[in-house]
Amino acid sequence: MPRPVNITYRIFPTPDAVAHAGAHLFANAAASAVQTRGRARIAISGGTTPEAMFALLADPAQPFLKQIPWDKLDLYWVDERSVPPTDADSNYRMTNEAMLSKVPLPTAQIHRIEGELDPEVAAARYESAIRNSFKLEGAETPTFDLVLLGMGDDGHTASLFPHTEAINNLTDIATANRVPQKDTWRITLTWPVINQGREVVFLIEGADKAQVLHDVLLGPYQPDTFPSQIIRPASGRLTLLLDSAAASKLPVPENGETTGTLELK
Ligand code: 6PG
Repeated sequence: MPRPVNITYRIFPTPDAVAHAGAHLFANAAASAVQTRGRARIAISGGTTPEAMFALLADPAQPFLKQIPWDKLDLYWVDERSVPPTDADSNYRMTNEAMLSKVPLPTAQIHRIEGELDPEVAAARYESAIRNSFKLEGAETPTFDLVLLGMGDDGHTASLFPHTEAINNLTDIATANRVPQKDTWRITLTWPVINQGREVVFLIEGADKAQVLHDVLLGPYQPDTFPSQIIRPASGRLTLLLDSAAASKLPVPENGETTGTLELK
């Protein structure tokens, strides 16, 4: 049975405003984790949506670059494509170009997924890297301070695609996932690990996501068809940063507000 979750969705007029909200959230999560636990561990997604947020985080004209305690931040990826780090499709490449090449984040704190390796090997090595950097023992699993997710127009999130094996993986931290509909492999964090994040946030933009977002949030629970539905954090809270195009099929928040809430039983 899915666990109940309180969803807060914030609607912004443009993708640029979503990027600013995401950058604020990233900087605040990093600062508060460092203040509370001395270290911030954040897992980011790829695709196209987060690129503008990464650019803002690295922009010297914005406050974020100075606010973020880069020396105490460990950065991880939610998922990666099965390609080398220089490939146009690489999530690492996108992040590196938009942000990493411009910020003082020590290389040892950048935990990329080695998409150039055999996917099973890459997943096993990534899992070990996570275990080592979190200093996990035995069956312990990682608790990220912030997990940033995107959603595809087929309802996938991370590299948990509809009707793929990784949806059934409840035991590993990271796994290789064969994605027949894209004729490719991906490497992804598993959903129990994503759900263990202290803060789990989707960034979703564009009219092509509106219907599926409606179905994910308000339709029947069918996680094999809509893997994003499986994201129900243990904290009981989930945040969505949306542009108005993506939010166009959701209930309009009351009193002209831009923040809506949904309680999923
Ligand atoms: C990836 C992702 C993936 C992504 C969605 C949305 O590697 O592709 O991490 O889950 O977040 O596909 O992608 P867009 O932001 O490009 O719409």
